[in-house]
Amino acid sequence: MQSAIKNVTVIGGGLMGSGIAQVSAQAGQNVILVDLSSDVLAKSQKSIGANLGRVAKKVYKDKPQEGEKFVAESMARIKTSTDPAEAAKSADLVVEAIVENMNVKHKLFSQLDAVAPNHTIFASNTSSLSINEICSVVKRKDRFGGLHFFNPVPVMRLLEVVRGAETSDATYKTMMEWGKAVGKTCITCKDTPGFVVNRLLVPYICEAIRLYERGDASARDIDTAMKLGAGYPMGPLELADYVGLDTNKFILDGWHKKYPDQPLFNPIPLLDKLVAEGKLGVKAGEGFYKYD
Ligand code: CAA
Ligand code: NAD
Repeated sequence: MQSAIKNVTVIGGGLMGSGIAQVSAQAGQNVILVDLSSDVLAKSQKSIGANLGRVAKKVYKDKPQEGEKFVAESMARIKTSTDPAEAAKSADLVVEAIVENMNVKHKLFSQLDAVAPNHTIFASNTSSLSINEICSVVKRKDRFGGLHFFNPVPVMRLLEVVRGAETSDATYKTMMEWGKAVGKTCITCKDTPGFVVNRLLVPYICEAIRLYERGDASARDIDTAMKLGAGYPMGPLELADYVGLDTNKFILDGWHKKYPDQPLFNPIPLLDKLVAEGKLGVKAGEGFYKYD
């Protein structure tokens, strides 16, 4: 599948941004990966290299030299930067994957809107915030939408393409084509809380945390139950650690503020406590479980 997009700037070099940069580079796109921290960028490049190696091992099983070439060429397509505005100047598409905070996203997009070329499409990888609200600060509302990837990006096959109230047909079509070009199956979502996947998944994870908090079952047993009893690849508490407990909390707090009468979105004291203690899950070495 061909895409009109050739140059992608990915802002945020964390868990999601590094995966989005990887799949874009694998598909032949020129990528600039941006983070405020050069340490994060160095870590991202390392993990992208390792994950490309996993792909190469599978795809070029009997042709290790071609596998090495694939890794080297994909890596060469990824440049890094700590300057979002500069990196947006050459982009056909900007995918934002920074912290899940409306004010921070607003600040970034208004800065980018002033410098990015006219044709550049802006997209947010937000898990839970409204695309219409995020794009309220830019002039190019017709060239703005949601591109919601799943963790781990190189493995999860879905991409939710979110149409905001003012996303044009041309922008929507370009986003769908780009999603296919980077190897994803795309579905179309309206700008509703959590789109499709997270509207179902987040309340499920939260109910599991509440079950554990009440002492109804151990963490291991809750996870085993959903893996063996419902066929999920990970249990809900393992998944919460994998997504990041801070991200889970950002999502829940945002929805609770917006929909205070919805009990599924009520705050969870145990989640608040773990986040306050810095136990953010896999990325911090500890959450519901400990990691090396
Ligand atoms: N990058 C690249 N490849 C990876 C990878 C990564 N980070 N993690 C795993 N893989 C690959 C492995 O190389 C392996 O490939 P092969 O089968 O070709 O050997 C394959 O994925 C399976 O990996 P593992 O054998 O190591 O482990 P697994 O079988 O337990 O699978 C998993 C790992 C894919 C993460 C699986 O447990 C899973 O699907 N978990 C659920 C993930 C999920 O629900 N994600 C959505 C979270 S919600 C979200 O993202 C939205 C949001 O807004 C919060
Ligand atoms: P993360 O904390 O791993 O990475 C965010 C990165 O953004 C950090 O490295 C931080 O330094 C950087 N950053 C913050 N502000 C910045 C700015 N102004 N300019 C440049 N870089 C900046 O977070 P993540 O898990 O990758 O999540 C990123 C986004 O993707 C969030 O909106 C989140 O809701 C969404 N998302 C997360 C998941 C998940 O499973 N974690 C899945 C889908 C979508």
